[in-house]
Amino acid sequence: MKKKKIHIIANWKMNPQTAEEAKTLFSKTNKSAEKSKKVSVLCAVPYVYVGKLTSGTKKVAKIGVQDVSSEASGSYTGSISADMAKNVGASFTIIGHCEKRKGGDTDEMISKKVALANTAGLSVVLCVGEGDRDTNGGYLDGIKNQLVVGLSAFPKESIKTLVIAYEPVWAIGKSFKDAMKPDQIHEMCIYIKKVLTQIFGRESAELVPVLYGGSVDFENSQAILSDGEVGGLLIGRQSLDATAFSNIIGYANKL
Ligand code: PGA
Repeated sequence: MKKKKIHIIANWKMNPQTAEEAKTLFSKTNKSAEKSKKVSVLCAVPYVYVGKLTSGTKKVAKIGVQDVSSEASGSYTGSISADMAKNVGASFTIIGHCEKRKGGDTDEMISKKVALANTAGLSVVLCVGEGDRDTNGGYLDGIKNQLVVGLSAFPKESIKTLVIAYEPVWAIGKSFKDAMKPDQIHEMCIYIKKVLTQIFGRESAELVPVLYGGSVDFENSQAILSDGEVGGLLIGRQSLDATAFSNIIGYANKL
């Protein structure tokens, strides 16, 4: 069987502050993507940079956005629709990042965003993850609910365009030493695959890469990629450091 491509996703969040810096960072990342044919490299960038980065020659690294509106169009000041993102050149969108959930995104809104993004022709990277853990496993029901509701309007025919990023909120933006341990990540990936199987059936669920995100750096990425049995990584801070990010891509390419 052909080995699946590992997905390495950069989430630039609200960085960098100038288009020049964005171009430089993207060009370095794209160079690593060109050298790493076994890795699918995606950059989720601020909306204002999408058009600037997608113009000109076709790039190997894919360019996407970090969120889209739960509405298709209309009087929603400051919002960006899935169609707008697609029409300006984005190929994917993150949806349900915990920083958006914290800002008020509910699972019902996320479900609408997922459906609109898919209809617009954007691949969806759906983020799920628990805020904290209880000892009786209640957090697992929470993650199941995020998946079941979030994907309730996602058609099985589009399964090849779906990516799930498991991001435990307690491990995001922390010291790199506090990233989740590979064996725990492995357990969570199995659990998420099980829920995806309940939703879409085994054959389709197997096609969905399940990524880990939360305080990943080059150091801990190696064990997570080798022993965590993940489909890839979603990386925040270290995606802004072109050297560290390239090293992670390079390592993933050798697996
Ligand atoms: P971090 O962010 O890698 O800086 O922890 C990850 C994320 O929020 O997606």
